[in-house]
Amino acid sequence: MGSFDNAHCKEVLGHYVTGIVIVTAMTSEGPAGFTCQTFGSLSIDSALVFFAATSSSPSWQRIRQVGVVGVNILRDDQEPLARSFAVSGVDKFAGVSWIAAPNGSPFLEGSLAYLEGTIREVTNHGDHDIIVAELDFASTEPGGPLAYYRGGYRVLAP
Ligand SMILES: Cc1cc2nc3c(=O)[nH]c(=O)nc-3n(C[C@H](O)[C@H](O)[C@H](O)COP(=O)(O)O)c2cc1C
Repeated sequence: MGSFDNAHCKEVLGHYVTGIVIVTAMTSEGPAGFTCQTFGSLSIDSALVFFAATSSSPSWQRIRQVGVVGVNILRDDQEPLARSFAVSGVDKFAGVSWIAAPNGSPFLEGSLAYLEGTIREVTNHGDHDIIVAELDFASTEPGGPLAYYRGGYRVLAP
């Protein structure tokens, strides 16, 4: 067992492998989105998912006002998108192909799976919010997932 401090804790938590999603919404000023690792399935009946967002994130604050979110589960060749949607203060959608989901959220072309839903609850915990959304659309495309492990993007072996 190692010592307990924030840096150590972060390094240990990095041993938990996740996929990567980009959470999106269509705001009155155009599309918004950010790269997100803390996403998961919460309930099947009702169909609920959760994600965590830095409370001060400008993109999250814009998405929150819309109340409808798209979730793009990234495919293993979409590392560049994961990187560009994690950069603050730029036009993340420049040169990105997307289509509107049934309720308007941007679905990024080439993703592995697409979800859309309505935000049901937002609770604040420290510097993050936890968001629960109820899904009303879900679909998949062929391919494998983009994974994230110990600070790096990974591709699963076939
Ligand atoms: C691999 C990876 C995972 C991330 N996971 C999250 C996350 O779960 N929640 C979050 O709020 N930000 C997460 N971020 C950081 C945001 O993508 C980043 O802060 C982004 O700039 C937020 O967009 P904004 O600055 O336009 O608000 C992650 C970034 C990377 C590279």
